[in-house]
Amino acid sequence: MEWLNLGVRWIHMIVGIAWIGASFYFVWLENNLNRANPRDGLSGDLWAIHGGGIYHLEKYKLAPPTMPDNLHWFKWEAYWTWMSGIVLLCIVFYSNPTLYLLAPGSTLSGGEGIAIGVGALIASWFIYDLLCDSPLGKRPGLLGLVLFVLVIGACYGFSQVFSGRGAYLHTGAIIGTIMVGNVFRIIMPAQRALVAAIAENRTPDPMLPAKGLLRSRHNNYFTLPVLFIMISNHFPSTYGSQYNWLILAGIAVVAVVVRHYFNTRHNSHKFAWALPVGALGMICLAYVTGPAQMPRGPEVAKIEYQPLPATAIGGHRADEPKPAAAPAQAPAEPTQASTGGVDFEKVHSVIQERCAVCHSAKPTSPLFSSAPGGIMFDTPQQIQQLAPRIQAQAVTAQIMPLGNITQMTQQERDLLGQWIDKGAQTN
Ligand code: HEC
Repeated sequence: MEWLNLGVRWIHMIVGIAWIGASFYFVWLENNLNRANPRDGLSGDLWAIHGGGIYHLEKYKLAPPTMPDNLHWFKWEAYWTWMSGIVLLCIVFYSNPTLYLLAPGSTLSGGEGIAIGVGALIASWFIYDLLCDSPLGKRPGLLGLVLFVLVIGACYGFSQVFSGRGAYLHTGAIIGTIMVGNVFRIIMPAQRALVAAIAENRTPDPMLPAKGLLRSRHNNYFTLPVLFIMISNHFPSTYGSQYNWLILAGIAVVAVVVRHYFNTRHNSHKFAWALPVGALGMICLAYVTGPAQMPRGPEVAKIEYQPLPATAIGGHRADEPKPAAAPAQAPAEPTQASTGGVDFEKVHSVIQERCAVCHSAKPTSPLFSSAPGGIMFDTPQQIQQLAPRIQAQAVTAQIMPLGNITQMTQQERDLLGQWIDKGAQTN
C-alpha cells in the first residue's frame, strides 16, 4: 500500500506541476502580450528568453489564416492530475474510512462517508457551472464571493462529518474537480469548436473562446488554495483545529489576493499591497492558531465512545487492564517533586496504550508494518524527545491517535499536556 501510495502521489505531483505550470505560464503570457500595433489578425506578441534561446510568440485574434500541421493541446496534464487525485483519495481515505476519513467517534459507516465525499464532488461541478451561467456570471466580483462562501461552507459541512484531513482534502478535491470540469466541459469544447470552424472556413463564434478564457482564469485563481490544501497534511494546526474551516478561509483569501497581484502587475502595481497584507495575514493566522489561543479539546471531548469490537486494531480496550509498561525501560520510582507534579509512569502507560500499538519499532496493530512517520514511543527517552510533537498531535490538535481508534480520553490528553507544560521530565 505504501508503494502504491508513493507511486500515485508522485505521478499526481508531476502532472499537477505540469498542469499548474502551464496555467501560470499561459495566464502570464496573455497578460504580458505586447498589444501595441499588432500585425494584421494578431492580438499581440511577446518576446522571451529561456534556456539559452530567444522565443517569439504571437497570439491570433481568432484564427490563423491557415491551420498549422501540428497544434499543441494542453489537456492531459489536467485529466491525469484529476484521475491520479481520485485514485489517491481512494488509497488514502476510502480504503480505510474509519482511520482517515471519518471524524473520531463518528456514527457514520465508512460507506456513508464515502458516499458523502463522492456526492459532494459531483454536485460541486454542477452547482458551480450553473452559477457561472446564471445572471451572477456577469458580475465576476459577486460570483467570486458567492463561490468563496460556498467552498468554505462545504469545508464547514465536511468538518462536521469528516476528520480534519478528510474535510480539507475533500474541499481541495471539489475545487480540483471544478477546475478539471472547466477544462473538460468548457475549455476543450470551445477549442474544438474553434479549430473545426477554421477547418471548415467559417468565422468562429467568439463567444466560446471568451468563455474558455474566463474559466481558465477561474482555474488560475483556484490554484493557490488547492495547492495549500494538498500540502496541509503536514500542518496539524490548520486542519486539526476546531476552526479548521475558518483557517482555510483565511488562507484562501491570502492566496487569492496574492494571485490577483501577480495577475495584474503587468499593467499596474495598484495591488502591490497584496504582498505585505498577505504576509501579515499569514502571521495573524500563525498567531491565532497557536496553542495559547486555541481552546484545547475540540469535538473529541464531547464524544462518548462505544467499546471497540474486541481488540480490533491489536490495541487494548479502554476497559481492559492497562498493559504493564515495558519493565526494562520503566523509570524508577518517579517522585512528585522531580516531575513537577505529573507522574511520568501515568504518561508512559497512556502512550503505551493509546499510541504504541502503531508507534513502535514493531507495531502490534495489523494496520502498520513499521512505525508510521518513523515515530516510535518504545522508550521514555523517545517519548521525551518527541514531547513537542506529541503536544501538537495529541493535545492541541487532537488528530492523533488517528481516528481516535485507541479511544484516548480528554483526561489523558490533559495529562499529557500538563506533563509537557511542566517540562516533560521522565524521572
Ligand atoms: C492507528 C495508528 C496510530 C495511532 C494509535 C497513533 N498514531 Fe500517530 N501516526 C499514525 C500515522 C499513520 C502517522 C503518519 C502519517 C500521518 O500523519 O498520516 C502518525 C504520525 C504521528 C506523528 C508525526 C506527525 C508529525 O508530522 O509530527 C506524531 C507525533 C504522532 N503520530 C503521535 C501520536 C501520538 C502521541 C499518539 C497517541 C496519543 C498516536 N500518534 C497514535 C498512526 C497512529
